[in-house]
Amino acid sequence: MGLEPFSFFLFLATLALVAATSRGTYLEIPHQIHLLRPKSGARTNDFPDLSCLSWRLAVETNNIIGWKTTPEKCEGYLGHYMLGQQYREDSEAVAYEAIVYAQSLELAGDGREIWIFDIDETSLSNLPYYAKHGFGVEPFNSTLFNEWVNKGEAPSLPESLKLYKKLLSLGIKIVFLTGRPEDQRSVTENNLKNVGFYTWENLILKGSSYSGETAVVYKSSERKRLEKKGYRIIGNIGDQWSDLLGTNAGNRTFKLPDPMYYIS
Ligand SMILES: *[C@@H]1O[C@H](CO)[C@@H](O)[C@H](O)[C@H]1NC(C)=O
Ligand SMILES: *[C@@H]1O[C@H](CO)[C@@H](O)[C@H](O)[C@H]1NC(C)=O
Ligand SMILES: [Mg+2]
Repeated sequence: MGLEPFSFFLFLATLALVAATSRGTYLEIPHQIHLLRPKSGARTNDFPDLSCLSWRLAVETNNIIGWKTTPEKCEGYLGHYMLGQQYREDSEAVAYEAIVYAQSLELAGDGREIWIFDIDETSLSNLPYYAKHGFGVEPFNSTLFNEWVNKGEAPSLPESLKLYKKLLSLGIKIVFLTGRPEDQRSVTENNLKNVGFYTWENLILKGSSYSGETAVVYKSSERKRLEKKGYRIIGNIGDQWSDLLGTNAGNRTFKLPDPMYYIS
């Protein structure tokens, strides 16, 4: 019985770590890592040597946080990624795992089992907007973005729509929880319906009482309220870590790709 190469690598890495720790050298490593960490709000362009693929992996894994812009040199790379096959395949992998998980559950079927869907870059895609305005937009222009949202013409993210339909067929109810403001309720409802998200248990938009609060605080509070009402959040899908971190996140969370922007 042989170890798989990757397990063997992990085994060696663990040995090396233990050895380093016992010699005391490990204690010096955090200092080096600290020097490499961006200061709050630092531009990612502070890392000119990072390849765009490494940058994307680091943002998707929430290792680079709080970034305001995509690296200038990666604009072309990100455009090709977002508009090409890889973004779709990465989304498919997430939706597929979510479906496998949902199908594995023994559901109570009491109408209290819900799945949280974020909206932007999760249910609806703003790719037409970014394709027009660029993938390295700085600063983000909320006037132009709201004009786009208010058209109500965002397409669905097809992989999420597939998950949505599967969940409904399993008897799981859908709750949309979005950072879009209350005054975009009707345009959002119409947009969702027009692209196939035809029903939901609840559509929660960010009310004025949350103005100034982070998405993590807002979304955690609203999920807590849902659980207090007797709902059980069995799944949660979003493109931002702030959709999935915090409290009452759900039994399992699913992170869709989004290297275009970061919301805390
Ligand atoms: C956003 O775009 C509009 C229209 O092009 C422009 O007038 C405005 O100055 C921009 N705002 C910012 C903050 O760049
Ligand atoms: C969800 O998590 C709760 C708390 O850990 C657990 O009691 C429950 O059985 C889980 N539900 C499912 C469907 O896995
Ligand atoms: Mg989103």
